[in-house]
Amino acid sequence: MTHAATSFPIRPITPDEWPVMRAMDELAFGGPMPDEAAEIEKELFPWERSLGSYDGDLLVGAAAAFRLRLAVPGGVVRPMAGVTWVAVRPSYRRRGLTRAHMQRQLHDLYEAGDEAIAGLWASEPGIYGRFGYGLASHSLGVNIERPARLVDPPTDATLRIRLIPATEAADTIAPLYEEVATSPAARPGMLARDEKLWWRRATADHEKDRGDATVLMCLLVERGSAVRGYATYRMRSKWDSFRARGTVEVRELYGAEPAALAMLYEFLLDVDLTAETSIWNVPVDDPLLTWLGDRRAAQPRLRDTLYIRLIDVPRALSERSYATDIDLVFEVTDDICDWNAGRWRLQAGPDGASCTRTDAPADLAVPVTALGASYLGSGSFSAGVRAGRVHEVRESAAASATVAFGHEVASFCPYIF
Ligand SMILES: CC(C)(COP(=O)(O)OP(=O)(O)OC[C@H]1O[C@@H](n2cnc3c(N)ncnc32)[C@H](O)[C@@H]1OP(=O)(O)O)[C@@H](O)C(=O)NCCC(=O)NCCS
Repeated sequence: MTHAATSFPIRPITPDEWPVMRAMDELAFGGPMPDEAAEIEKELFPWERSLGSYDGDLLVGAAAAFRLRLAVPGGVVRPMAGVTWVAVRPSYRRRGLTRAHMQRQLHDLYEAGDEAIAGLWASEPGIYGRFGYGLASHSLGVNIERPARLVDPPTDATLRIRLIPATEAADTIAPLYEEVATSPAARPGMLARDEKLWWRRATADHEKDRGDATVLMCLLVERGSAVRGYATYRMRSKWDSFRARGTVEVRELYGAEPAALAMLYEFLLDVDLTAETSIWNVPVDDPLLTWLGDRRAAQPRLRDTLYIRLIDVPRALSERSYATDIDLVFEVTDDICDWNAGRWRLQAGPDGASCTRTDAPADLAVPVTALGASYLGSGSFSAGVRAGRVHEVRESAAASATVAFGHEVASFCPYIF
């Protein structure tokens, strides 16, 4: 494999360099990181899996990789390198630093062998395709005008609601999240939260985010002492010509059963003194739009969320299961991870998969991005053919692959890392 050449040496960033790292990130992203957030980010930062470029002693660019666990089709959770902290000092932009980091990172991850896939959220969607990342998951941002009623939602008289401060909720809601994120029924794209620190981050209530809104609350739906759903949210009040026009801002919302989910929505769509409820991250096939009846009331906007990169094609394709039986030869192009390039035979089905190198003729010619885009069950090789990105060598190969790689529920990634 070839590394991009820059004149700047690359080495791991060390904990004593945190202030410089933070300052570079603030410059690159254009805003100060609140001290309370920085404290958590510093503890989470994966120093041993970080890369910094240096001009003399000056840190001029960075990238790092968290150790995450990702739900994939087949009801299993697999390790994923969570690519993060990608930033370049503004005066060093467009000199190939990020390209060098991306290539080196993939090479290091492959050598280490801990993960077969990498994933990231992109600040700008145009950046990462060239490094082999394919868009594997979408979500909806919704703003629902009040009053909005759910039409015939499922109900369960044994469920109750309770409100507690989000900063005190982690231990109470962690088991429910674990169930939603890692059980066999988990949506592909869900991420486990193994460490307390990820929970601190999820329930943090930084003053800067709060502004003039309420503290972050946690709405629980419980049956007896068992949590069956929760939402973290705050209410931001606003008055316009003596009329209440506040907003409910939802950070997270999960229900382990339909009635619990419906109860959360019914509460959050009807908070006194508000004019709308804003939820930034909703699965594209969430029941909300069905329950709303008037789906235009939600003003849904489609967003790109998790991009997936196969670091090790045969291992990654063997680490998930498939909706239907398939026996197909992929011709893979991969300019950055040349060990992935060439022909691979995937023999797979609902019970598992094997993927081996082959000399047999190809059925489908794909860039590695197309495999990443379909990895969580929400992509389409047929759409790739129509877009001219995927080449169908054997007739109907794209259709078979689309169906086999597909999954019954839409993928969804719960948070930005
Ligand atoms: C985005 C950023 C990391 C790119 O770093 P960089 O060192 O300037 O990138 P490189 O010079 O290595 O460019 C690599 C390639 O990506 C392209 N690219 C870089 N930034 C891009 C962007 N924002 N949108 C589209 N393409 C981009 C370059 O044109 C180049 O293309 P090519 O090699 O195919 O010709 C840097 O500009 C930055 O820190 N931006 C602000 C923070 C940010 O957005 N970080 C990303 C977080 S996900």
